[in-house]
Amino acid sequence: MRILVTAGPTREYIDDVRYISNASSGRMGYAIVSAIVQAGHEAVLVSGPVSLPAPLDCEFHAVESTEQMMQTCRELFPACDGVIAAAAVCDYQPKSRVKGKISKTGDGIFLEMIETDDVLAALGQCKEHRWIVGFALEAQNERENALQKLRRKNCNWIVLNRPEAIAAENNSVELLDETGRTVAHWEGPKSQIAGDLVKWIADQVG
Ligand code: CTP
Repeated sequence: MRILVTAGPTREYIDDVRYISNASSGRMGYAIVSAIVQAGHEAVLVSGPVSLPAPLDCEFHAVESTEQMMQTCRELFPACDGVIAAAAVCDYQPKSRVKGKISKTGDGIFLEMIETDDVLAALGQCKEHRWIVGFALEAQNERENALQKLRRKNCNWIVLNRPEAIAAENNSVELLDETGRTVAHWEGPKSQIAGDLVKWIADQVG
C-alpha cells in the first residue's frame, strides 16, 4: 500500500515575520509514517514545520501554510491508496498578509481572521475508491463531534483524541467507524498507537 500522511502544524502569516500556529509536535504523524514503513508499505509524508528529523525511507514533502499543504496533498493523493490525516491544521488565517513588518504604534491592533480551507474535506471530495482516516481533537461532546467530522469530511474512520494529546509523548485514542461505533481503543506511547492503527487499517483494507 502507498499511504499519504499529513503531520505537524501549519503556519499562517500575519506579516513577513509573524505567524499564528499551534503546539502540535508532529509526533503522532511521524510515528504513523515509521509504522507504515516498518510494516512494509510506502509512506508519503506532507509535514508542517516540526523539530523532528524527517523519517527514513519515506517520501517527504515539507510545507508551511495550509494552502501549501492543500496543494501538495491534492497532487499526491491520486497516486495513494489512502490517507491518514494527523496534521493539526490552522483553522484560521489572517484575512490578508501584510508585506514587511507591522510596526508598533503604542496601541493594540485588530486582526481579522477567516477560516482556512479544509485539506481533509477536499481529499474526501475526490476520494473515489480510496480510504480516509481523519483525526478529531475534541474537548467536549467528543464522540458526537468526531462522528460529525467523519461524515463532513467523508472519512471511513476517525481517530478521536483529546487536547492532552498535543505535544505529548503518550496518547489515548478511540477509533470510530461510519456508524459512530468505537471499533478500537488504544492507549500508550504514540509509536505503539501508530503501529496498532496501521495494522488495524491494513487488516481492513489490505
Ligand atoms: N483538517 C484539515 N484541514 C483543516 C482542518 C482540519 O485537513 N483546515 C483535518 C485534520 O488534519 C484532522 C481533521 O481534519 O484530520 C479534524 O481536525 P480537527 O482540528 O479536529 O477539526 P476541525 O475540522 O478543525 O474542526 P474544529 O476545530 O471546529 O473542531
